Amino acid sequence: MKHSEIRNITVLGAGSMGHQIGMLCALGGYNTTIQDINEEALKGAREKLEDIMTKWVKKGKITEENVQAAMSRLHFTTSLEEAAVRADFIIEAIVEKLDAKRDVFQKIDEYASPDVILATNSSTIVNSLLASVTNRKDKVVNMHFFFPPLVMDCVEVVMSEETSEETARVTMELCERINRTGVLLRKEISGFVANRILGALQKEAMNLYEEGIADFEDIDLICRKALKHPIGPFELMDLSGIDVGYYVMQQRYSETGNPEDKPPKFIEEKVKAGTLGRKTGRGFYDYTKKQVKN
Ligand SMILES: NC(=O)c1ccc[n+]([C@@H]2O[C@H](COP(=O)([O-])OP(=O)(O)OC[C@H]3O[C@@H](n4cnc5c(N)ncnc54)[C@H](O)[C@@H]3O)[C@@H](O)[C@H]2O)c1
Repeated sequence: MKHSEIRNITVLGAGSMGHQIGMLCALGGYNTTIQDINEEALKGAREKLEDIMTKWVKKGKITEENVQAAMSRLHFTTSLEEAAVRADFIIEAIVEKLDAKRDVFQKIDEYASPDVILATNSSTIVNSLLASVTNRKDKVVNMHFFFPPLVMDCVEVVMSEETSEETARVTMELCERINRTGVLLRKEISGFVANRILGALQKEAMNLYEEGIADFEDIDLICRKALKHPIGPFELMDLSGIDVGYYVMQQRYSETGNPEDKPPKFIEEKVKAGTLGRKTGRGFYDYTKKQVKN
């Protein structure tokens, strides 16, 4: 399908990423359906978007009229079939678990029209691992947004050997229309570019912490003050979700078998305890009482 023919976009998953990707699409003028298996997640998504848009209007970033128009283009559903049938382009942003994604890709391949492009927002999983369960390998692509998508202006568009030039071009055009800088990567590699660089930094930060060289607050402080990073690696893990990072590490470990890629014990413990970062009020830091060192 040509970019000019795309009217309806479906985003699968209404979590930290999905709801904001959906909003970008609605702001870009597309009729947008956000689908999630969890009714509460959909309710939360709508409320969060209304809050963000209210703040944007107050700050003069957007007019009330444009917000109303974009909101009227947003639809929410728990039905995967309904969401896939009405889509001209699908962006998957569900939990970072290969089996769950493969299951969803198999189903949407059945429901969606054969000319629809299926994009995944996975942080690490290369699209060929998902394309292999579909009958449209040339129309599967990575479209990797950054958290939070309404703020971060970059999307890694990653091709597999089977992704067609047409699919890459349409996906890049879509990035432009939703006001995001798309960067086309022609070779797939787990983690792509940004997360491989970030992963190396986080791995070293976690090693230093685990070995007791420095506490996490001081590692964050040094990264902010000495390296001029806007936030430190532990603050970033809290912001993007410790569980998300954990699944990414697990996925990488399952691919490489390298013990160095295995998630550290203290991360696993936080995931088990449900202290997942800002979204649960507590991760490395306690957000009920702000304690980040400045
Ligand atoms: N959080 C980040 O910083 C970040 C950045 C870039 C990319 N990503 C990627 O985006 C994807 C989503 O991450 P997130 O942080 O939004 O996770 P999240 O846990 O906040 O949200 C995941 C959502 O998916 C839903 N879900 C689970 N299984 C589903 C299914 N079968 N069908 C429909 N919905 C389902 C859950 O109910 C949940 O609402 C992952 O692939 C992740 O790697 C995350």
